[in-house]
Amino acid sequence: MVDTTVELCGLKLDNPVIPASGTFGFGYEFAELYDINILGSFSFKGTTKEPRFGNPTPRIAECTRGLINSVGLQNPGIDKVISEELPKLKKCFDKKVIANISGFSVDEYVYCCKKIDAEEQVGIIEVNISCPNVHNGGMSFGTDTKSAYEVTKAVKAVTTKPVFVKLSPNVTDIAAIAAACEEGGADGISLINTLLGMRIDLKTKRPVIANKMGGFSGEAIFPVALRMVYQVYEAVKIPVIGMGGVLTADDVIEMMLAGASAVQVGAANLINPYACRDIINNLPQVMKKYNISRLTDIIGMAH
Ligand code: FUM
Repeated sequence: MVDTTVELCGLKLDNPVIPASGTFGFGYEFAELYDINILGSFSFKGTTKEPRFGNPTPRIAECTRGLINSVGLQNPGIDKVISEELPKLKKCFDKKVIANISGFSVDEYVYCCKKIDAEEQVGIIEVNISCPNVHNGGMSFGTDTKSAYEVTKAVKAVTTKPVFVKLSPNVTDIAAIAAACEEGGADGISLINTLLGMRIDLKTKRPVIANKMGGFSGEAIFPVALRMVYQVYEAVKIPVIGMGGVLTADDVIEMMLAGASAVQVGAANLINPYACRDIINNLPQVMKKYNISRLTDIIGMAH
């Protein structure tokens, strides 16, 4: 019998597998396919103060071993998330959810985090300062140490639940950004969001994506994500949720060896909606294969 349980700031998870924001809707959509209570938790779609239709289409470009998205934070807005999405989720998910909050100003982050903090279904708030698909918001807060510190500090002042700040890989020094968030009071760090990328259509000679560029994710980015998780683990004392190109139970273990206390699975859900279920089912046998009896023992072991 192996022990797959992990803990994030006092929140005990049956296993470290967490569908990443933007790849699992508000959860209930996937509950039609399997019992989502097998998940460690999941992070819901990036939510803003106002409802957002998102970017013009095309928003997706396929790539070798990955894809580019430019969704543009399409979501129903914080009030509808609370009044409609969370009640639907409650009917099929007994566990605490991770609330992914995005914004265009510090005030907007504060407004949404304060509201979502009051929801008993929410176990962790994931402050997304890394969306590459919107102008004057999202990623612009996550590519500068001062802004990352300010958003974190402001959100922490109005919340009671653990705050994980989700970082962008589109920076030269990820460790410095993580350290700034820790200084601002973050309880944990989530990383990485997508890498800024683009494709050009050879027939039209124009960018495939209407917004020209978007966030590249999927299997191809795993080594970059792993490297950044490794660096951030050394730079901060708070827990790290690792993500980026995770596809298999072996990848989950590799991320944890680099320093992740839990692992999010993103693009894999778009290729195979059962990806998280399959990883969770395979995890015990992969642990046995590598003589791991308790997952928490291996966090950061590669250092
Ligand atoms: O465009 C999007 O909605 C992506 C969000 C994100 O990468 O955080």
